Amino acid sequence: MPDLSIDFAGIKAPNPFWLASAPPTNSGYQVMKAFDAGWGGAVWKTLGVPVINVSSRYGATNYRDTRMAGFNNIELITDRPLIDNLNEISEVKKYFPNHAVIASLMVETKEEWHQIIKDVENAGADGIELNFGCPHGMCERGMGSAVGQEPEVLKTIVEWVMEIAQIPVITKLTPNISHIVDPGLAAVQGGTDALSLINTIKSIIGIDLDTYAPYPVVDGKGTNGGYCGPAVKPIAMEMIKELAKHPDIQNTPISGIGGVETWRDVVEFILLGAGSVQVCTAAMHYGFGIVREMEAGLIQFMNDKGYETIYDFKGKALPNVTEWKHLNLKHKVVASIDETKCIGCDLCYIACDDGAHQAIKLPQDGSSRIPQIIDENCVGCNLCSLVCPVEECITMEQRDDGTKHITWDQKGKLGQQPTTFNDDKAGGKGHFVPTVQDALKHRK
Ligand SMILES: Cc1cc2nc3c(=O)[nH]c(=O)nc-3n(C[C@H](O)[C@H](O)[C@H](O)COP(=O)(O)O)c2cc1C
Ligand code: SF4
Ligand code: SF4
Repeated sequence: MPDLSIDFAGIKAPNPFWLASAPPTNSGYQVMKAFDAGWGGAVWKTLGVPVINVSSRYGATNYRDTRMAGFNNIELITDRPLIDNLNEISEVKKYFPNHAVIASLMVETKEEWHQIIKDVENAGADGIELNFGCPHGMCERGMGSAVGQEPEVLKTIVEWVMEIAQIPVITKLTPNISHIVDPGLAAVQGGTDALSLINTIKSIIGIDLDTYAPYPVVDGKGTNGGYCGPAVKPIAMEMIKELAKHPDIQNTPISGIGGVETWRDVVEFILLGAGSVQVCTAAMHYGFGIVREMEAGLIQFMNDKGYETIYDFKGKALPNVTEWKHLNLKHKVVASIDETKCIGCDLCYIACDDGAHQAIKLPQDGSSRIPQIIDENCVGCNLCSLVCPVEECITMEQRDDGTKHITWDQKGKLGQQPTTFNDDKAGGKGHFVPTVQDALKHRK
């Protein structure tokens, strides 16, 4: 049986599954229930001067038959008195001394930071998370993402915190920035023990077509919210990778957040360097019970691969994430259709003909609806295999013999990069495209 326990910047937890600071961690009742269900840690709903929230607060992207593929909120930090939260943190720690309780904090002045840090330490919190991410409401008051978007300000506040903190400090970053390394580096320079990301992405989830107000509508008006859930996972993974690969950040533990829902998401985040994962939307959607599938799946994965601890595979994908200029331009794949699986829907033909490279043809004699790949036209873009509704029906076959290797970077050094508008060295020179008139040949 693999050991799932972690030591995250000095915060110990029985497993890497943590609840993110959000409604599921709003009270001791919820955090206790979550720990009992199997979660290893919880980042408490952000504490500070309690707020007044609006009603309603949430919106969602329902994609086809998938509810909440993306989730959006305009909720602020806790609206409960600090003393109630502190008492409940102490209570939870009595019942679950070996689980991680991290207090998320957001206040304004140095004095407030110092006071609230002492308060949560006295309550028994195992760590602190600095919320520099909230992209609505709190940023208008100079907190949340307003701090996360200003690396110098962020660094100063981290320094204030580190002057006094006796327990590990995690700095939570906003994704609402063009270069995540800037705030990441500022936090490390300020002395943070760890980083976490992402907080929500500034967004408008939709517009009511009768009232013309953005969702969620508050008495006829709305505002931008923060986007999260499965839709944001790729953005979170890219940002985690950026930090985990950076030479001055790579030794700082990272807690990965954003769209985590299944054991597979957890493994992917760890492969990109995360030392724990945090979950909000999936717990709000399906409840705390999802952790059981995460745990079983992670154990199965580790058993299959022969890993004993999560540190055996943490960051293992990072050496394979490179820059485009280092990819092998000689690698060649071509689509291949498994005729025994094909249901003749022709979605691949439509996608390739209209959206790719006209490399799929349909039998003209009406004998079959199974399309055929025109190998010499196929650029191996993958589109047909992505649209095909049948699993493993279209696969990409390697056509180069694996012996040749040249990258854009190497081509530059050899003077082989195209440099003029009509350069013979360009990749598409002489590649098949139909004639312009062919577009109209099926006109009735
Ligand atoms: C309704 C709601 C309230 C949230 N409140 C907080 C908060 O108080 N503090 C915080 O740091 N993040 C807050 N978040 C952000 C989450 O902690 C998390 O960073 C984000 O939702 C991405 O994770 P997910 O895709 O698993 O939801 C909130 C998110 C939601 C949906
Ligand atoms: S891989 Fe791209 S170019 Fe090749 S057949 Fe499929 S869609 Fe067309
Ligand atoms: S999309 Fe897949 S199932 Fe449909 S015709 Fe193409 S290969 Fe067959």
